[in-house]
Amino acid sequence: MPLPRAPAARRGRRAGPVPYEPTLESPVTTMSTAHRATAVAARATELSKVYGEGETKVTALDRVTVDFPQGEFTAIMGPSGSGKSTLMHCVAGLDSFTGGSVRIGETELGSLKDKQLTQLRRDKIGFIFQAFNLLPTLSALENITLPMDIAGRKPDQDWLRKVIEMVGLADRLKHRPTELSGGQQQRVAVARALASQPEIIFGDEPTGNLDSRSGAEVLGFLRNSVRELGQTVVMVTHDPAAASYADRVIFLADGAIVDQMMHPTADGVLDRMKAFDSKGRTS
Ligand SMILES: Nc1ncnc2c1ncn2[C@@H]1O[C@H](COP(=O)(O)OP(=O)(O)OP(=O)(O)O)[C@@H](O)[C@H]1O
Ligand SMILES: [Mg+2]
Repeated sequence: MPLPRAPAARRGRRAGPVPYEPTLESPVTTMSTAHRATAVAARATELSKVYGEGETKVTALDRVTVDFPQGEFTAIMGPSGSGKSTLMHCVAGLDSFTGGSVRIGETELGSLKDKQLTQLRRDKIGFIFQAFNLLPTLSALENITLPMDIAGRKPDQDWLRKVIEMVGLADRLKHRPTELSGGQQQRVAVARALASQPEIIFGDEPTGNLDSRSGAEVLGFLRNSVRELGQTVVMVTHDPAAASYADRVIFLADGAIVDQMMHPTADGVLDRMKAFDSKGRTS
């Protein structure tokens, strides 16, 4: 699907996919792209998150170091409880962490006051959650443009139309969330994240509630927004087919990154997951 050119040169972002070393297929414990010239949209360094203490202590993240380069589509996979949502929430400034650091662009999250953090999330980050987080009193269209309305930014009308068409909501824009199906609500959430063209989009199972055709359309559009507009996307998924839309998959187990795969295919991801299972690393 052809996409319109980005307005205002996309704040200086590079066009086109990130160049990869082709053989980074072996297990890794930490990852850094510091040796590459690529700008980093987000970076976690030695990031730890511990819940509770004593017998109830849970180490959800154990010194995770990872870069999310600009213009790259990263999928995060791993078994239930491995820390995927925690990693995403900490990097997105939605949750506090107990150790290490996170930066979005050049900004260290640890140095920000609550108000500044709220502003950074609003201006630079798009979210697509499984629980859609739509405002019930607003129409679909109002929900889509809400982050921009709050920030006092005017939506790019051509882009907005394109996004709405892609998610297939053109005839539902006046409906409130309660008048939409679960899948339609999910599509509103996807459109809301894409509409403001944020620095980075985080999605926690963004297609988990969609049928396979709508899911494939949404994933295709996310991938196109990466390829053609230099959008940065980080997505948690359990689905190897969804992960195959990404440029890279990172695998979490027990709060640590245990592997990564460049240019993933659904079969390749599935094989890798089976290999983990047979080693008992992810169960
Ligand atoms: N508020 C909390 N209090 C205590 N422990 C928590 C809390 N939130 C998450 N955890 C624990 O942290 C670990 C990581 O949770 P997280 O939600 O990041 O997993 P996940 O990989 O996203 O799993 P899923 O695939 O089921 O969504 C789990 O063991 C979970 O029980
Ligand atoms: Mg989760």
